[in-house]
Amino acid sequence: MQKIMITGATGLLGRTLYNTLKNEFAVIGTGFSRAKKPILPLDLSDHQAVTAFLECHKPTVLVHAAAERKPDVCENSPEQTIALNVAASAFLATECAKRHIRLLFVSTDYVFDGHDAPYLESAVTNPVNLYGKTKQQAEQAVLAASPLHSVIRIPVLYGDVATLSESAVTVIATQLKADAQTSHDNWAIRYPTHVEDIAFTLRDLIKQPSELGGIFHISDVQAMTKYQMAQVMAQILGYPCELLLPLGEPTQSAAPHTIVPWPTRD
Ligand SMILES: NC(=O)c1ccc[n+]([C@@H]2O[C@H](COP(=O)([O-])OP(=O)(O)OC[C@H]3O[C@@H](n4cnc5c(N)ncnc54)[C@H](OP(=O)(O)O)[C@@H]3O)[C@@H](O)[C@H]2O)c1
Repeated sequence: MQKIMITGATGLLGRTLYNTLKNEFAVIGTGFSRAKKPILPLDLSDHQAVTAFLECHKPTVLVHAAAERKPDVCENSPEQTIALNVAASAFLATECAKRHIRLLFVSTDYVFDGHDAPYLESAVTNPVNLYGKTKQQAEQAVLAASPLHSVIRIPVLYGDVATLSESAVTVIATQLKADAQTSHDNWAIRYPTHVEDIAFTLRDLIKQPSELGGIFHISDVQAMTKYQMAQVMAQILGYPCELLLPLGEPTQSAAPHTIVPWPTRD
């Protein structure tokens, strides 16, 4: 039987990965500051601890979802970000290759600059912020470590959140006002994707032959700007949609960074 280890199992994606995969596989989840039973604490920047953990638990597949993924936090704490997003991922990739553990590295559409979106797996990466650059470097280290390792690129996520601010989608609900105008980006096209859909797709990928390494894009097919997401949320909350103002110019340092959803490909 496959034994799946999930890093970042206390995070937005990792929690759902853990709950989905445990129905079909033996699963070990690790977290850091929020780890509590059954999730085990493991600081991925402590390479000795990582080696000891792999030796002890002997997973056959490792889904590496832990990362610093908030672009502003990455810019403000570059050393910690590089240690977790690049160095820890590269170390895991090498250690997994040595032990014949199949690594699925969770990456992001932030590895692209958005100018030629949406993107196929074969597209050339060109990140525009530190977050994207660290994930690009980690991708390269993962793919160089073993042809059986995989890079899984995903877009902006929503799902079962601990707080609304945990997801870049649900945080929009906290910005809306019942009696005042709010402005929302109507320029960058996103493909908000539910964490369960990512989890089910990864479950299916894990069941495929282990020779299937490489780059995979997983995404929902529904394109929306944040302004359009705000419209949906305003309707649900009973707020007047007339109070929502669309912004036609980019509001972030990052360009739109969308990947091609599978069903819409030629
Ligand atoms: N969220 C999105 O919209 C989005 C979009 C595209 C790609 N992604 C990618 O998807 C993956 C999962 O993202 P997410 O949104 O689930 O992230 P998240 O909610 O921010 O969770 C981050 C996880 O990393 C863990 N972590 C932080 N520092 C650690 C360390 N030193 N050692 C071990 N673990 C550590 C955290 O543990 P504690 O909380 O216990 O400290 C947490 O489990 C990431 O690789 C991210 O780049 C996310």
